[in-house]
Amino acid sequence: MNPAALIPLPDPLQVPWGWFQFLLLLTFFLHLVVMNIMIGCAFIALVKELLAPAGRSDLCREVSRQLTYAIAFTVNFGVAPFLFLQVLYGQFIYTSSIIMGAYWLAVVFCLIAAYSLAYLYRFQFDAWEGGRRWFLGLSLAIMLLIGFFFTNNMTLMQSPERWAAYFNHLGGFFLNFGEPTLLIRYLHFMVAAVAGGGLFLAGLAHFQNRLPDEDRRARIKNGLLWFTYATVVEVAVGILFLFSLPRPVREIFIGGDWLATLLFLGSLVGAFYCLLYGIRQKLWPAVGALLLTILLMVLVRDLARQAYLAPYFHPSQLPLAPQYSPMLLFFLILIVGLGIIAVMLRLAWQSTKEEQA
Ligand code: HEM
Repeated sequence: MNPAALIPLPDPLQVPWGWFQFLLLLTFFLHLVVMNIMIGCAFIALVKELLAPAGRSDLCREVSRQLTYAIAFTVNFGVAPFLFLQVLYGQFIYTSSIIMGAYWLAVVFCLIAAYSLAYLYRFQFDAWEGGRRWFLGLSLAIMLLIGFFFTNNMTLMQSPERWAAYFNHLGGFFLNFGEPTLLIRYLHFMVAAVAGGGLFLAGLAHFQNRLPDEDRRARIKNGLLWFTYATVVEVAVGILFLFSLPRPVREIFIGGDWLATLLFLGSLVGAFYCLLYGIRQKLWPAVGALLLTILLMVLVRDLARQAYLAPYFHPSQLPLAPQYSPMLLFFLILIVGLGIIAVMLRLAWQSTKEEQA
């Protein structure tokens, strides 16, 4: 069967595709940053819960406070790129979502469960001292599962040649295990999240003036250690990921396409500086290096998707039916929405400070 025959016809765009591309990349970058904080902090806190005897753990208590916010932000910053992804790649993402429909729909219920467990972890922190690690562990396991469903969908959407699997899995119970990059790609995201979580905890400790100086320094050091070790593992995972890519995709990053090669080299330099600043325990330069590396990796990932889909489609081929007013309205609502989020964050910050006092 010709896979191209399975790709539905796209709808026209109202404004040139570059606008949506820019917004997709920007919002996905934000999604990844908060996803890293969410998964990374939960993982580090779980390790602490498991290693330390049940009882007092300031770091875990801190994570219990931050985790519920991190989940809320991950979800909200996930919806935005999802909208832009549908605009640019709707004919691909809708199809792959249907093929793995049972798992895709389960994401909503998984999210509710993970979020509820994170709230239990936070509000039963002292009351369920012995059992609270279960709340956190289950919440993290579900979040990891959601991430896995996302990697399945993102790899499936860019491989129409696999879509015929639908005819053998009509119930929507299909996962993309035949994709050679699936597990290593997933690992690439999750190991990076541990690095990001460690760095976030180090940064957070920097601002916690109520902590004794010695504790604060110990927390910063510990967060940077997580960051550094996870980055070392990430370098190995990244190399394996690169070599698991199909040759035509890999080649664009090693000289086949100058922009892809430049961005890829840039992200490698970024990773090098992450390691360097991590080893030297330089907190803010490490934060800068990590954010830059994530941004470059987001661009690299997007070029990889374009290379996967090159035989079938490029977003620049989408028909255009100009109509600018919806976009203007969107930006207006975006500005108002960001203002409301800023107010909410201020209120949340004040209430956390009161809670701590
Ligand atoms: C526990 C919650 C979540 C986790 C752990 C998570 C994790 C991830 C990961 C690892 C990826 C990259 C997958 C890949 O490329 O292989 C991803 C992509 C993505 N996520 Fe999330 N995600 C979560 C929730 C959400 C939610 C609720 C949404 C909103 C519907 C969302 C929207 C997206 C979108 C649109 C992409 C792909 C963007 C693109 O391909 O350009 N995520 N997510």
